[in-house]
Amino acid sequence: MDHFQLRNGELYAEDVPLARIAQEVGTPVYVYSRATLERHARVFREALAQLPSIHLAFAVKSNPNLAVLRLLGAQGYGADVVSEGEMRRALAAGIPAQDIVFSGVGKTGKELAAALEAGIGQFNLESEAEGRELSQIALSMGTRAVCALRVNPNVDAKTHAKISTGKAENKFGVSYDRAAAIYAEFSGLEGLNMRGLAVHIGSQITDLEPSRLAFMKMGELMRDLRAQGFTVTHMDLGGGLGVPYKAGEQLPGPDEYGAMVSAVTADWDATIMFEPGRVITGNSGVLLTQVIRVKEGVTAPFVVVDAAMNDLVRPAMYEAWHDFVALKPSGETMTANIVGPICETGDTFAMGRIIDKVEAGDFGAFRTAGAYGATMANTYNSRALVPEVMVDGEKYAVVAERIEPEAILAAERVPDWLT
Ligand code: LLP
Repeated sequence: MDHFQLRNGELYAEDVPLARIAQEVGTPVYVYSRATLERHARVFREALAQLPSIHLAFAVKSNPNLAVLRLLGAQGYGADVVSEGEMRRALAAGIPAQDIVFSGVGKTGKELAAALEAGIGQFNLESEAEGRELSQIALSMGTRAVCALRVNPNVDAKTHAKISTGKAENKFGVSYDRAAAIYAEFSGLEGLNMRGLAVHIGSQITDLEPSRLAFMKMGELMRDLRAQGFTVTHMDLGGGLGVPYKAGEQLPGPDEYGAMVSAVTADWDATIMFEPGRVITGNSGVLLTQVIRVKEGVTAPFVVVDAAMNDLVRPAMYEAWHDFVALKPSGETMTANIVGPICETGDTFAMGRIIDKVEAGDFGAFRTAGAYGATMANTYNSRALVPEVMVDGEKYAVVAERIEPEAILAAERVPDWLT
């Protein structure tokens, strides 16, 4: 359930007509609903209520907007970060350092030191070399790094290949077979305080069975390690739960996920950690756009909109589907190809799709754009960096300004030797 609903024939975000935002802020623009974000944060937490001890770390990469982080921090969420930049955002949003988990396969020495300095709660180590390096850095700083070992369970998450992370050939984590030996080595390093295991098999997961298998494997490994006398008090099960991108699509939701986790982990006696991203932010946001013109096509007309693959890259990058709706639907429909203005054929949001009938000047929205939307935007074709808005009841605020091409140009230099 989200708070983007039709009212008197017009699409609203909570109590604000989206056309008002499109007119006042300009398009393209992302719009997030505070009530929806809070609802999703609550629903996910409540779905895990049967578990005796949990830690929730919002996957910042899915939507790193400062206002979004502030809101989720206030809901008791920590943060899962993958760079110093994300860590600084989480801290700037007021998320306590000890509630931050640092994941990622390529944390640099500088980033590890900065995270130790900040006192973050847990490093998810992804290789032997990283663990040894972190131990040395921690020792040189006179501290110990609290760590989990990220394991690649060799399970196929059955999602898009580009967002699948838990197969043996993927770059993430250490191999399942070597994990116990590496955990043993790390437990002996003076700069590390090993407390757990971590796993994350992929994103937009729509079948819970692969996750269940992966978690069972992690449980076995945990029991193995404990039997050998090692401490394992924390089990990080990552994120990845998928969301419906098509109206009416039925997927396993937080409740089924929570029931599955609670069954698998019933006898674990550990704090279970989660890194949800999309399930919180995905359906909390839309991307507003205006139709520039409708152009004749061979198979169907091209609806050329002012949003493009630089603003929302998911269709171009993952063949992802985002529902498109008119902000003031007439009730009529048309079959169209929805494309952006960028000079690439990949700048296509939909082909041959039945949509609300639109014409030049009309506003529309791409739904389920709150996760991996603005955060993956860029300025290709010297376009502006897309702004973001948050709605709260009858009011709204711009929570990220549009960065105009002039500002980007101003950061560029022509060296003397070219003048
Ligand atoms: N934890 C780790 C270690 C991750 O790598 C990710 C996502 C998450 C948590 C959060 O996953 P979520 O709950 O959001 O599925 N750009 C792609 C998705 C990339 C996901 C990368 N890792 C997309 O637009 O579909």
